[in-house]
Amino acid sequence: MSTRTGSIGPGGRKVEQIVESSEVKSEKQRVALIIGVTGIVGNSLAEILPLSDTPGGPWKVYGVARRPKPNWSADTAVHYIQCDVLNREETLEKISALKDVTTLFWVCWVSRQTEEQNCEDNGRIFNNVLDALLPNAENLEHICLQTGRKHYIGPFDRISRNRNIQPHEPPFHEELPRLPEPNFYYILEDILFDAAKKRERLTWSIHRPAVIFGFSPWSLMNVIGTLSVYAAICKHEGLPLKYPGNKNAWELFVDASDAELIAEQEIWAAIDPYAKNMAFNCVNGDVFRWKKLWKLMAEKFELEVPSYEGEGFSLAKAMKDKGPVWDAIVKENNLLPTKVEEVGNWWFADHVLNAPFECANSMNKSKEHGFFGFRDSETSFLSWIDKMKASNIIP
Ligand SMILES: NC(=O)c1ccc[n+]([C@@H]2O[C@H](COP(=O)([O-])OP(=O)(O)OC[C@H]3O[C@@H](n4cnc5c(N)ncnc54)[C@H](OP(=O)(O)O)[C@@H]3O)[C@@H](O)[C@H]2O)c1
Repeated sequence: MSTRTGSIGPGGRKVEQIVESSEVKSEKQRVALIIGVTGIVGNSLAEILPLSDTPGGPWKVYGVARRPKPNWSADTAVHYIQCDVLNREETLEKISALKDVTTLFWVCWVSRQTEEQNCEDNGRIFNNVLDALLPNAENLEHICLQTGRKHYIGPFDRISRNRNIQPHEPPFHEELPRLPEPNFYYILEDILFDAAKKRERLTWSIHRPAVIFGFSPWSLMNVIGTLSVYAAICKHEGLPLKYPGNKNAWELFVDASDAELIAEQEIWAAIDPYAKNMAFNCVNGDVFRWKKLWKLMAEKFELEVPSYEGEGFSLAKAMKDKGPVWDAIVKENNLLPTKVEEVGNWWFADHVLNAPFECANSMNKSKEHGFFGFRDSETSFLSWIDKMKASNIIP
């Protein structure tokens, strides 16, 4: 199922067993609609779903994003649809025409200043797409909704400032109650539950990754891409790879989620009858320290790492004037044209590397229900850097 690493683990075997089941042996053509096809998981879904050995496949795939089809995306069989799902009229017109969709993969979000605004606009885009799809796609049978770990620790604008509400204690498991504060993930879930109540035989699954290791120059939150751009700038300026984060993130064990693993779990949930109407965490299944990944990254870019005394700095501030430097790097190395604002999500790297507390998601529920997929986080980290290099996004 996975072409990049080939290491899908026992989870892959389980999924293949499902392919053997009578349900999947039928001639039914599965048709995916990926909302957010150019995003960090959308891109992996777009690469995996059309393959002939993908469970339930090969799938017919529609992929939606706001911008035109990028020149960096793999030349897959995806039917690319440019549509701004915030625009209700455009969404009703373009999405209602996709009458053969069987499975919706929601891997999209819009970012706003406050969580109240995130709730408003993310709820709106999900409603727009469902209002276009539900009355028209008669064969729609399953919706995969991707949210994330902030379900357990609260949204960005709360994590980064003092607050009275305590996040849950890790390891986080799926049955923990919601935190009593606004969270766009809760809004999306409620919209999903309502849709499933109204529509007979419509099933759903919710997928909650931690920080995602993957490929997309257009993601709003691509930590590996961002750190690779930072490393390329350090190299260009003859500087060592100074670690910008806090001591917590440097020292403590943390976990991450490989984008292909998430895609595999979402596909598994879409076709396995035992994965219906449930939320699942999705992490690699191991832990790592940023201290180690930093060393691996420095080796990859042939950079020195200065000794770290526990003092970080803000990448957002340090990189704010680096647009012309990045333009020069792109030109000198003949890279695909990108702007530093697209490929450097500095605020997000600052967030990831300044974790205020320890975090870990439990994978027990996912395994109990039959998904045994895993990734080695170090291998995952390095392989996505390699993919960025091979795709001519970074030098
Ligand atoms: N990235 C992470 O590390 C991470 C970690 C945990 C949880 N999550 C969660 O995962 C979910 C999906 O996020 P992601 O990081 O996978 O997304 P992402 O990489 O930022 O990609 C977002 C996708 O949505 C598309 N999009 C955005 N606005 C659109 C609009 N108005 N109309 C049509 N398409 C639009 C983007 O295309 P355009 O740019 O062309 O609009 C892009 O294809 C979110 O809930 C996020 O919080 C992410």
